[in-house]
Amino acid sequence: MAELIDGKLISAQIKDECKEKVALLKEKGIEVTLAVIQVGEDPASSVYVNNKKKACEYIGANSLSYNLKEDSTQEELLKLIDDLNSDDKVNGILVQLPLPKHFDEDEVIRRINPDKDVDGFHPINVGRLSIGEKGFVSCTPAGIIQLLKRSNVEIEGKECVIIGRSNIVGKPMSMLMLRENATVTICHSRTKNLSEVTKRADILIVAIGKPKMIDASYVKEGAVVIDVGIHRPDPDSKKLCGDVDFESVEPVAGKITPVPGGVGPMTIAMLMSNLVNSVE
Ligand code: GUN
Repeated sequence: MAELIDGKLISAQIKDECKEKVALLKEKGIEVTLAVIQVGEDPASSVYVNNKKKACEYIGANSLSYNLKEDSTQEELLKLIDDLNSDDKVNGILVQLPLPKHFDEDEVIRRINPDKDVDGFHPINVGRLSIGEKGFVSCTPAGIIQLLKRSNVEIEGKECVIIGRSNIVGKPMSMLMLRENATVTICHSRTKNLSEVTKRADILIVAIGKPKMIDASYVKEGAVVIDVGIHRPDPDSKKLCGDVDFESVEPVAGKITPVPGGVGPMTIAMLMSNLVNSVE
């Protein structure tokens, strides 16, 4: 039986720590403000954006909402970002992705002042991470580090295998685990003999985007398994699942994150943490 890593509990602790820091800043007369930009009305994006605004409210930070119409132009969005970049009252800027197809997302991300880029997506922040400089780190991988540390998982010297090489999760995750002195292997869709590689892992981080792909045959006895996936396998059911086949892996793993309630809640908690740090 694996021990469950409780992302709901750990994310709540982090948000409470942020709340305390925001209160201390307020005593010094410093306000914390996040600008949230949504283009269009994609229902899933609206849910995410609302949750981010609610988290701001919880920690005592201000959130400013900017809703651009689906048919707004790249220039309009860039102009809004320029205005927020030069607004001293705004500490963090978040553009909810994905943007409608006619936008150039890379240009939008690059336009945000790297020191207000609380998502950690700007190439400057990616570069800072890769050379070990201070900067904003993408929220999901930063959240996974917190899950591991706060569940007393030792990282130094451990074999860490990451499945997935996205710019938002896999690549920054590998840099963070390296920074923690793990021995890191990144696997992806062209990796040969995947299960042979993943079976070496003391810490296995799965971010492949395929429901329940990783079963017990990929996992070493006692490994710590972190599941980044989130899927609704049956459109009519409320039940969610991850990239890991929980029922199969749980008896083999030492510790495991559930879906929901594992990695998911950490993303917004780390966004709040980045926002508070942006003031400093
Ligand atoms: N869309 C899905 N996840 C994210 C995220 O973490 N940040 C932003 N800006 N958009 C997203």
